[in-house]
Amino acid sequence: METVDLAVYGDDFTADPYPVYAKLRAQGPLHRVRTPDGGELWLVVGHEEARAALADPRLVKNFRLMGWDSYEEELLGVHMLNSDPPDHTRLRKLVAREFTMRRVEALGPRVQGVTDELLDAMLAAPDGRADLVNALAYPLPITVICELLGVPDLDREAFRNWSNEAVAPTTPEAERTAFVELSAYLNELIEDKRCSPGDDLMSALIRTTAEDGDRLSRSELTGMAFLLLIAGHETTVNLISNGVRALLDHPDQLAALRADMSLIDGAVEEMLRYDGPVETSTYRFTAEPVDLAGTVIPAREVVLVALASADRDPQRFDDPDRFDIRRDPRGHLAFGHGLHYCLGAPLARMEGRIVVRSFLERTATLELDTDPARLDWLPGLLMRGVRALPIRFTPAP
Ligand code: HEM
Repeated sequence: METVDLAVYGDDFTADPYPVYAKLRAQGPLHRVRTPDGGELWLVVGHEEARAALADPRLVKNFRLMGWDSYEEELLGVHMLNSDPPDHTRLRKLVAREFTMRRVEALGPRVQGVTDELLDAMLAAPDGRADLVNALAYPLPITVICELLGVPDLDREAFRNWSNEAVAPTTPEAERTAFVELSAYLNELIEDKRCSPGDDLMSALIRTTAEDGDRLSRSELTGMAFLLLIAGHETTVNLISNGVRALLDHPDQLAALRADMSLIDGAVEEMLRYDGPVETSTYRFTAEPVDLAGTVIPAREVVLVALASADRDPQRFDDPDRFDIRRDPRGHLAFGHGLHYCLGAPLARMEGRIVVRSFLERTATLELDTDPARLDWLPGLLMRGVRALPIRFTPAP
């Protein structure tokens, strides 16, 4: 199979990867690609094949199988997204009950309260301008996940930089520096919590490690803190900003939602399908030769599932490039699928619905306050989103 070099598309691919994915899908559901950073891997672009790959037990997460050692794991620990059963099952069980629909619904009033405070501050700007990411999309989810974990005084600016580098590295050196600093920060956080535990998730996990290291080792404790803090906010930031961007690009859909807020649940699902926060899954590895979509991938190769492509597959969704808040987008893969299906999906959905709804209810007019060509996109294949979303608004009377 010929290798497709994604680097030839340059920055256009980061700003709008969908035409490239459409071209690839038209040629077949699976491709050998060279990524913009020079790595070679297998990319699944068809919806059905993506779903099958995400549920395939022969595609594993443990990169030690590749003979790789990783400074990331050394610094940031073992977590759900880099482990396979039975470790994965044990780790997920330790926290799963915190993220059930019922637990999450109980957080609703607090999410609404934080959203209202952020909107009060943002809408008070006398010039009617704001950066939506800075004013709302970032502070809301980071506040919620920090309160849930029991991390009240996070250094948000430092953390935002480390976190951005961890999911969308600008250079390998910057990524490594971020990992080293993040690791020191997490260890300090765990020490502080150990000395003064509270009635929160981190304190409970620390107690589990102290009393029963077989259930959660020290490295897994660091990994859990890392994964929940990062996965618990990076993605939701982009759900809010990509979702609002989609509405701004489609004034008819924005008007329809404003006119009938009962459409909000479907609108958030369509935002996830149309331009979701996670462009590709995390890496999977072939533990043995694996036949996928009619091609045998040799053992010890990297496989990546392009969720963003799968969710624009015309074989699965009619007219997939149309943003339509009334369509039935069920079956989208924005939260992944299979064993690693997003643990935080109920929380992310709740946050997305409350924020988008409140934001629209409290603004009378809304427009993008920059040339779309000047938006600053997160680099890399994993995340899809902008660093800042300048908007202009008039507050609702
Ligand atoms: C709109 C927001 C979100 C999106 C689009 C999203 C997306 C995803 C995706 C695609 C995966 C699977 C990755 C893979 O299989 O390679 C995943 C896993 C995960 N997500 Fe989310 N996520 C979001 C919000 C959250 C939140 C709020 C949390 C809060 C705790 C969270 C925690 C996790 C965890 C722990 C995993 C790993 C699960 C496992 O390995 O079993 N996510 N997420």
